[in-house]
Amino acid sequence: MAVDAIFDEAAGTLIDRGVDGPIECALVLGTGLGRIVDDMVDMVTIPFSAIPGFPLGEVSGHARQLCYGTLFGKKVLIFQGRAHYYETGDPAAMRVPLGMLTAFGSPPLILTNAAGSLKPDLRPGGLALITDHINLNGPNPLVGDVGDGRFVPMVDAYDPHLRLRLKKAAASSGANLGEGVYMWFTGPSFETPAEIRMAKTLGADLVGMSTVPEVILARRFGIRVAAISVITNMGAGLLGGTPHHAETRDVATAASTGLRRLFRSFLSEL
Ligand code: HPA
Repeated sequence: MAVDAIFDEAAGTLIDRGVDGPIECALVLGTGLGRIVDDMVDMVTIPFSAIPGFPLGEVSGHARQLCYGTLFGKKVLIFQGRAHYYETGDPAAMRVPLGMLTAFGSPPLILTNAAGSLKPDLRPGGLALITDHINLNGPNPLVGDVGDGRFVPMVDAYDPHLRLRLKKAAASSGANLGEGVYMWFTGPSFETPAEIRMAKTLGADLVGMSTVPEVILARRFGIRVAAISVITNMGAGLLGGTPHHAETRDVATAASTGLRRLFRSFLSEL
């Protein structure tokens, strides 16, 4: 599975469309965070729909295109939007977009998402570095994969070295970066208060509808990965939390200033 003709085909489309240099870092931007591309210069954009094997569909708050260019001095590929399991029931929806990165030398990958918080000190509007995850949903993007490579180790799946660099970047940029364990719920309905109490009991600090399948895929492909949540709300029933999509999108957009500062510092030190 790791070596796949469709990855080269997708990479070929990027090259034809103007991705003419290295990729030093890849970023996936979650709900409401797409404006981070405003800081990019010499930018080429390619809609997902133009790339073989890329997922179609849309969710409000996600543009669904690739942006390649210079971000804070580094050559960066930005996924402006992602595909989620809840759109089609395919946990491997991001397989080709992430597998394609192997054709560009497997640059480090930073995922971002909007998440609900289960921890009183991770407040809406803030940022949290994901340290580990819990996947109790059942779906796994590697079901159907073959060979011993499918038995992917998940200790330190969230790369310790990248995490350290992100923490340093947060400290030097003045962005407040908490940390926590992320639990994947498939969505698209939000959790019930009882599910949130369960998640808390099981050791989760953050909940969301993405990221976990992407981290599993990235590790399968040998890509170093880290993930940051923008906290948009308290989990259902906690401190009056009643999450809904418009709030998620709008709070994430407002909170993206801190994330921009953090990326500026992270990329300039990369
Ligand atoms: N639950 C699941 N996904 C989310 C949430 C939430 O509370 N907030 C933002 N994305």
